[in-house]
Amino acid sequence: MTKYKNKEEIELMRISAQLVSKTLSEVAKILRPGITTIAIDQFIASFLKENGAIPSFLDYHGYPFNSCISVNDVVVHGFPGKYALKEGDIISVDIGVYKNGFHGDHAYTFLIGKPADDVLQLVKVTKESLYKGIEKAVAGNRVGDISYAIQEHTEKKYGYGVVRELVGHGLGRSMHEDPQVPNYGRRGTGSVMKEGLVLAIEPMINLGTKEVYTESDGWTVRTKDHKPSVHFEHDVCIKKGKADILSDYSIIEAAEKENANLFSDY
Ligand code: MF3
Ligand code: CO
Repeated sequence: MTKYKNKEEIELMRISAQLVSKTLSEVAKILRPGITTIAIDQFIASFLKENGAIPSFLDYHGYPFNSCISVNDVVVHGFPGKYALKEGDIISVDIGVYKNGFHGDHAYTFLIGKPADDVLQLVKVTKESLYKGIEKAVAGNRVGDISYAIQEHTEKKYGYGVVRELVGHGLGRSMHEDPQVPNYGRRGTGSVMKEGLVLAIEPMINLGTKEVYTESDGWTVRTKDHKPSVHFEHDVCIKKGKADILSDYSIIEAAEKENANLFSDY
């Protein structure tokens, strides 16, 4: 069942979404070669606690951490652990918060030092594809219009692999609501979007093959060819004419620029 949010609910969702953005901007300040991914997860846990929010992912279908940290060939749902980041790594940090009865859920991919040129382009194009999708996320359009825009910009234009097994989703009092938002599909298909629908749009784009597999831990999704994958996610509310982006990359990007350990000039 598709749930539409009223004005008050949308403002509460904006608070949850912006807390995720704020947390990601704080993460951007501490990233450096040598930091372990579990240290990042612990940092996220304490920051959310200080801000009166619950990490949405912890215990979600048994998920055992506060965040998903997906490095290089890990597409999504990477377990934080003792791995220490190194120069040239790309790292997607995905955070969910539950506050005031609503979830925020989004992700950002950071570059530790300067990766290879083909990886840089993948990061740039994946972020662009998210905004191409958001352009189509307006009242009266269909969900497939978003999917098509993302696939066109990534698979058609650059030959990248668009992951089929994982999709974006509705967001609200539950972390996963209807409708599903695939990153591939046909224009003019899927349900018609109406004002008050909140979506988590999240392209997961591979440098090589679109094929992925899940590790024996039951969560970690990796590319079959072990080439890198990039993940960006925004929370957007459907409006007439132009989507209202509830999350905020500007504070993350500002922190990313300030941190000399991160490459952001792509
Ligand atoms: N952004 C991811 C999603 O939409 C996060 C879920 S991870 C989980 O599915 F651990 F909570 F499952
Ligand atoms: Co999501």
